[in-house]
Amino acid sequence: MTYLVLGAKGNLGSQFIKILGESAIGLDRQDVNLLDFKELENKLSVLSFDIIINAAAYNAVDKCEGDLQEKSLAFQLNEGLPDFLAKYSLAHNKILVHYSTDYVFNGTLKDGYNEAMEPAPINVYGQSKLAGELAIKAQVDKGLKAYIIRTSKLFGPQGSSPLTKVSFFDLMLGLSKEKKELEVVDSEKSAFTYTVDLASKTLELIENYPAGLYHLINSGAATWFEAAEEMFDILAISIKVKPVSAQAFARPAPRPEYSQLLNTKGPGMRSWQEALKDYLLHKTV
Ligand SMILES: NC(=O)c1ccc[n+]([C@@H]2O[C@H](COP(=O)([O-])OP(=O)(O)OC[C@H]3O[C@@H](n4cnc5c(N)ncnc54)[C@H](OP(=O)(O)O)[C@@H]3O)[C@@H](O)[C@H]2O)c1
Repeated sequence: MTYLVLGAKGNLGSQFIKILGESAIGLDRQDVNLLDFKELENKLSVLSFDIIINAAAYNAVDKCEGDLQEKSLAFQLNEGLPDFLAKYSLAHNKILVHYSTDYVFNGTLKDGYNEAMEPAPINVYGQSKLAGELAIKAQVDKGLKAYIIRTSKLFGPQGSSPLTKVSFFDLMLGLSKEKKELEVVDSEKSAFTYTVDLASKTLELIENYPAGLYHLINSGAATWFEAAEEMFDILAISIKVKPVSAQAFARPAPRPEYSQLLNTKGPGMRSWQEALKDYLLHKTV
């Protein structure tokens, strides 16, 4: 099998390029504008691959909440691109792998959300990602083979694109070098997920499970505060971490308070604490 990875220099996409080596062709912004579907179609037509992994997305959750231009961009990348890819994959007999988010849920259920539960996003980003899921499902109904994988709170090595986000843990680590005390939001309980694990479990999923909708996350859940505490414990860094409410860091987009994804269908994954330990102890920067 050969893979085409879109968003190949992003945080998740770069892990696929690393794992797959010569079995993957990677495309990122300097290769093609993923929003120019004509250009993209021309590009795809000269490449040879069996599976498309779409790791490209609009992820600026706050930016697209109030700004109409950004909202339009979010829908183009998170709905328009998957819609194009789904139609292309169906027409050309490719398998499509696409990522979605815990933000498709409203976050009121403390016990978490399984794959069968009804989404109800509370912010524009979540709405745009749900629209992408639905666009793919419309083609699945016509025979497309697609894996829609919801995941959450990604962390891991930073992708090589200059625009990729630094993970929460690296952000906290950086701040701990400048400050004696950190205030961290004790809210948004959900599953932290290591991009290295997510990439390898995605490949296991494609090989061994039927197409469909899956939740792939490291097991367990934590708030931002709980996760920061865990990291400083693992690294034996002595710093005061103070839990604060979400209101202390008011942001334009509302966040689901509890959005732990429950994986009841796909391959199991280790706990987020084990994955975090692995990441921190093998980190080179
Ligand atoms: N990050 C999280 O915590 C999280 C949580 C839940 C779900 N997810 C989902 O997981 C998937 C992977 O996320 P990620 O954090 O790895 O994403 P990421 O690091 O932001 O990577 C996205 C990649 O797509 C590229 N891209 C964006 N717009 C493009 C365009 N018009 N043309 C060409 N390339 C373009 C980006 O290039 P530039 O860098 O040049 O823009 C970047 O390399 C996404 O579907 C995301 O929604 C992420």
